[in-house]
Amino acid sequence: MLLGSARACGKLILLGEHFVVHGVPAVAVPVTAVGTTVRVLEDPQGRPAWLDSPFTGDVKVAGERLLDAALEALGVAPGMPWRVEVQSDVPVGAGLGSSAALSVALVRALSEAAGVDVSIDDVNAQAHALERLVHGTPSGIDDTVVTYARALAFRRSDALGDPTIRFLAPGRTLVLVLGAVPREGTTFDAVAAVHARKAADPARFARQCESVTHLVDSGIRAFESGFRRSLGELMDQNHGHLVEVGVSNAGLDRLCSAARAAGARGAKLTGAGRGGFMVALAERGKATEVAAALESAGATTVLTTEVT
Ligand code: PMV
Repeated sequence: MLLGSARACGKLILLGEHFVVHGVPAVAVPVTAVGTTVRVLEDPQGRPAWLDSPFTGDVKVAGERLLDAALEALGVAPGMPWRVEVQSDVPVGAGLGSSAALSVALVRALSEAAGVDVSIDDVNAQAHALERLVHGTPSGIDDTVVTYARALAFRRSDALGDPTIRFLAPGRTLVLVLGAVPREGTTFDAVAAVHARKAADPARFARQCESVTHLVDSGIRAFESGFRRSLGELMDQNHGHLVEVGVSNAGLDRLCSAARAAGARGAKLTGAGRGGFMVALAERGKATEVAAALESAGATTVLTTEVT
């Protein structure tokens, strides 16, 4: 018998990743073309809650930890005979928020199964706590955009307080074409590398944070007013800043150049970088050409998604 089920979408960061960890604003959008579904079913064998997922290795172990933590946070009595089935087409560890999608879907499906009423803000808070188990000290942007499934501007607070979140409506539908290359290392490593850059030259890093803050503020205006051309230019500039702090790689740079050459308005890596996904802003009529260019340039996965 089905006791609870939920689907959560993926996400991508349009502007401001990495710098967001250091207090700069960022813009993130839901990626509805992919998602994670969690279904809680009564286990005919009566086994205590267990994760039935397609994951293997470390990701499987992380998923099991998330399940245990979510059950505890919801106050579910230990030993409930539940099979917690996960289906996902969110690429894992590639910048599209796979762990946030799993966390949000788990909290929603398990709370339904347990008969516990959880407000959307509580789903976000619980998913953030789960994200901390996987990522250490994530900014919270991933779990927030996935919980609300809306585009938003996000700024973490400098103390321990809540982040500032403002939902954004795009002035025009955005067509985004995404391409991936194999990932080198983890989000944790890439975030640590940026911390090391900051420690090595704090004044330079502060200047860069200031530039990215201006860039993101302009990007928010361009996003809301539908100025695709300037948004694309700002994405290109943002990619330059990410290259400078050492989180791009040759594969991502190659895909970004290929997308621009095929007529994209702009392109940048998205998420932690060093592989994983890049995102290109395309005119509707150009999306197929941009996708083909990414494939020819060696992308291992190509996706197109719209933000409305
Ligand atoms: O883990 P990813 O690739 O989805 O992206 C994390 C985004 C960062 O800005 C690099 C880190 C963070 O916590 O915001």
